[in-house]
Amino acid sequence: MNSEVRHAAQVLRAGGLVAFPTETVYGLGADASSAEAVARLYAAKGRPSGHPVIVHFASAEAAFAYAREIPPAARRLAERFWPGPLTLVLKRSPLAKDFVTGGQDNVGLRVPSHPVAQALLREFDGGVAAPSANRFGRISATRASHVVSEMDAEFVLDGGAPEIGIESTIVDLSSGKPVLLRPGHISRAQLEEVLQEPVLEKGAAAPRHSGGLERHYAPQTPARLVAPHALDTEILKCGLDIAVLAFSKPDERVDFWIRMPRDPQGYARRLYAALRELDGAGCGAILIESPPDTAEWDAVRDRLQRACG
Ligand code: TXA
Ligand code: MG
Repeated sequence: MNSEVRHAAQVLRAGGLVAFPTETVYGLGADASSAEAVARLYAAKGRPSGHPVIVHFASAEAAFAYAREIPPAARRLAERFWPGPLTLVLKRSPLAKDFVTGGQDNVGLRVPSHPVAQALLREFDGGVAAPSANRFGRISATRASHVVSEMDAEFVLDGGAPEIGIESTIVDLSSGKPVLLRPGHISRAQLEEVLQEPVLEKGAAAPRHSGGLERHYAPQTPARLVAPHALDTEILKCGLDIAVLAFSKPDERVDFWIRMPRDPQGYARRLYAALRELDGAGCGAILIESPPDTAEWDAVRDRLQRACG
């Protein structure tokens, strides 16, 4: 892996694109200081320009150089959760250029914990702009094979299946009060325990971010959330041409179904690969059994709601 990491860092230095594993999902990386490299990244993703991208670093110290104000809350969260699945949005320093911030005055910063991501970021020794390594609006990649099947990267580092499986928690600290822009493995309760203050829901004034678009992380097959008690009736109504994501085997016959773990962490780890399998089954519709309506399922519920549009 060492020589692969060295090669990957070289590709980044030359302005190329490298896909790499993180503990959340695979990222498609480009040198965050190069306008041309980041333009190539947007083209590869099919992402509209003007959407900000998260910049990844090996350490909090390196990340904070991209911010001009580091509130105590940012330091506390970084101390507790970095390296790890947390992205902080802070007021940008001159190092964070318009082409990574989407022209906004703030920047998303993340220090991933995955050993391969860490090795790459240390070897590259700079900020790596990296959205999830999927086509814009599609399901995030949790296997190197997902990346290869749909993205144009000069090089792909294979780190197997990520431990978390859904994208990082995003907290905006750029406006004084902490705002949760995207729920994730690190929960609101964990953030509030460290900050000793409430973390607000994102409101209408939240900065632009593509994860906030209605339909995102979406399979191509139309998908629908169904309450557990209604699953069998819905299956009957739909006829046979149907794929199901559920906690237990449906009573009614279906073409294709996947059993999901009953714990939110296990579910998240399995989610995107399962959605890709269901999508690939070529059925007319996907029915998803709703998870419990409790806070520990917030991040999973968020991704499922987006998958259903
Ligand atoms: O776990 C993750 O965060 C993965 C891995 C690769 O690190 N990355 C990821 O990136 O999910 P992406 O681009 O697919 O989603 C990042 C979200 C987008 O909705 C983006 O618009 C938002 O974060 N974002 C990035 N910078 C932002 C900023 N300055 N202000 C508000 N939202 C921002
Ligand atoms: Mg994404």
